[in-house]
Amino acid sequence: MEVILARSAGFCFGVSNAVKMLDLAIQESSGLVYTLGDIIHNEQVVNWYKAKGVMVAHEVADIKEGSSVVIRAHGVSPDVMDKLIERKLKIYDATCPYVKKIQMLVRGKYKEGNEIIILGDKNHPEVISINGYCDNSAHIIDEPEQINELNLKDCNVCIVSQTTQNREVLKKVFKISQKAFKNVLKFDTICSATSKRQEEAMDIAKKVDLMVVVGGVKSSNTQKLYEVSKRYCRNTVKVENASQLNIKNIQKIGITAGASTPEWVIKEVLDKMEENKELDFETLFEQSLVELHTGDVVEGTIIGFNEKEAYVDLGYKSDGIITREQYSLDPNFTFKDNTKVGDKVKVFVINVNDKEGNVVLSKVRVDRDEFNKELEKCLKEKTVINVTVTEVVNGGVIAVYNGVKVFIPGSRLSDFYVKDMNEYLNKSIDVRLIEIDRRKKRVVASARELIEEKKNEKLAKFWDGIQVGMRIKGKVKNIESYGVFVDTGVVDGLVHISELDWNRGRIKDIVKTGEEIEVEVIDFDREKNRLLLSRKRCIENPWEEFLKTHGEGDIVDCKIVRFTGFGAFAEIENGIDGLIHISEISDYRLTSPKEVLKLGQVVKSKIIKVSEDKKISLSIKAVEPINPKEKEEEAKLKEQEAKEESQHVEKFENTIGDMVNKEE
Ligand code: F3S
Repeated sequence: MEVILARSAGFCFGVSNAVKMLDLAIQESSGLVYTLGDIIHNEQVVNWYKAKGVMVAHEVADIKEGSSVVIRAHGVSPDVMDKLIERKLKIYDATCPYVKKIQMLVRGKYKEGNEIIILGDKNHPEVISINGYCDNSAHIIDEPEQINELNLKDCNVCIVSQTTQNREVLKKVFKISQKAFKNVLKFDTICSATSKRQEEAMDIAKKVDLMVVVGGVKSSNTQKLYEVSKRYCRNTVKVENASQLNIKNIQKIGITAGASTPEWVIKEVLDKMEENKELDFETLFEQSLVELHTGDVVEGTIIGFNEKEAYVDLGYKSDGIITREQYSLDPNFTFKDNTKVGDKVKVFVINVNDKEGNVVLSKVRVDRDEFNKELEKCLKEKTVINVTVTEVVNGGVIAVYNGVKVFIPGSRLSDFYVKDMNEYLNKSIDVRLIEIDRRKKRVVASARELIEEKKNEKLAKFWDGIQVGMRIKGKVKNIESYGVFVDTGVVDGLVHISELDWNRGRIKDIVKTGEEIEVEVIDFDREKNRLLLSRKRCIENPWEEFLKTHGEGDIVDCKIVRFTGFGAFAEIENGIDGLIHISEISDYRLTSPKEVLKLGQVVKSKIIKVSEDKKISLSIKAVEPINPKEKEEEAKLKEQEAKEESQHVEKFENTIGDMVNKEE
């Protein structure tokens, strides 16, 4: 006779968790300990706890004040929870996380206005607890065809399932509902532990002569296992314990057990079989399980979690437990936000059997080993990594890369001396690893080379693109007496004062520090990193503009801007000055132009010459001379005197003439 034992047979993590919670309650409580309903659907287990003094209450009112109460894996409805709180009981909530998830889902969808349909047994405590989250308004069905009997044609409908239902039945429900309702939200809420157990039972049932399903009579998932197995093996029996077993003339036997069937009940069934055959069942039992040793790295599947720990199916006789701290080094990590049931996880076995029979696991150890390998690779391949500075320490800063501390010496933080390293706190920077000392657990990185490389790359790119005559933009960085330095983003270029503007003036009147200006490249030396620029070549040449509209002979208004010993300079237009020679101002000889002109005075002048070397000669005199009054008066006086003198000469001449004439 051959026996095949399902690897998934026995307690699921939800049930296992509930039993542990009850043990904890017994341990911690000085008063009475109650369970609200049977802790699990297994009479032997319930009786065992009864013997330990645990009371089973079917109503909240049955529980004495000051006692402790354990909520089993099926959970309770919100109103029951309120009553428990009201009675000031010490509550141990062992609601399975799967069930809790369905409760929250139903509450959310119900609030959004959906009609809730639950595929399940309306008398099952899990279904009752879920129904409580939609004010007990759910439509509970246990056959797919019942969908058509629901009067919800024009409604928005949300369908969930009891965790222990058969997936094929649920699929059928989804299919029918698609046509039956206007909008349907379909959620497959069958527990993966359940479906896995059912699938395995189905596989075994296909190949055996007798299929034995071990579990409590009230256990829904045991009943489902029986139904699934029966479909593939007509010779399927459901037993609560070994005493109900009767095996005769069977070649191949398959065994599975419900989620609430303890291991020792399964063992009893195996022992009973042993009485009927020659096989070593202990060996057979062990053979069906994977081997596990402390220090192994194995892959498992997450089958559930709470805030503090996750449960991992390793294919071993016990599930593995992994605490939050051993799952991730991130202090903000939560199982709820970062994992889901069904996730595969690579773990390190810390202990195959803690005092409570659990396998203790660590993901952090695996991650760390893999991460160390990754770090070595980064060092070897000079990979750029992004780290966040978290601390300033003596001689440098500490940064964090994927949870690992990396030291960056102060001299390696930048390509210049960093005076205050606190400026780097909480900032992300790119670095390269430069040293890994496993013995000292020291990882050292540097940002400096990277910054230098980037700068050099930028510089090379800049010079590659630079040509004499091209125009670029930059910001005035420094103003010196001989010109200004312009920051082009990569190299600082010099605009000599002579290249700043067409007009001579004070530099500070032409540009301001920080001002963005356009400049033309007039020369550069890549090797010496020197760049000569011109600003004035990017702006209009006033001389050329002037020549377009003015010429010799034109009369212009101009403003006296400067005096010299030989005349005065007058501005014709912005940037265009002409010289009025002292001889071109007045009809009289002046000793200084200031005799008749003053600064700022506007005078009409004639352009008398425009030379090729951009010199303009002007003449006021050619338009209207400006004569000094005293000179005019003096001239008038002289004229008068001359006139009188000529009259006198005339008189005298007449007298002589007359005399001559008279003599003749
Ligand atoms: Fe929970 Fe699934 Fe067990 S829902 S109680 S883990 S069968």
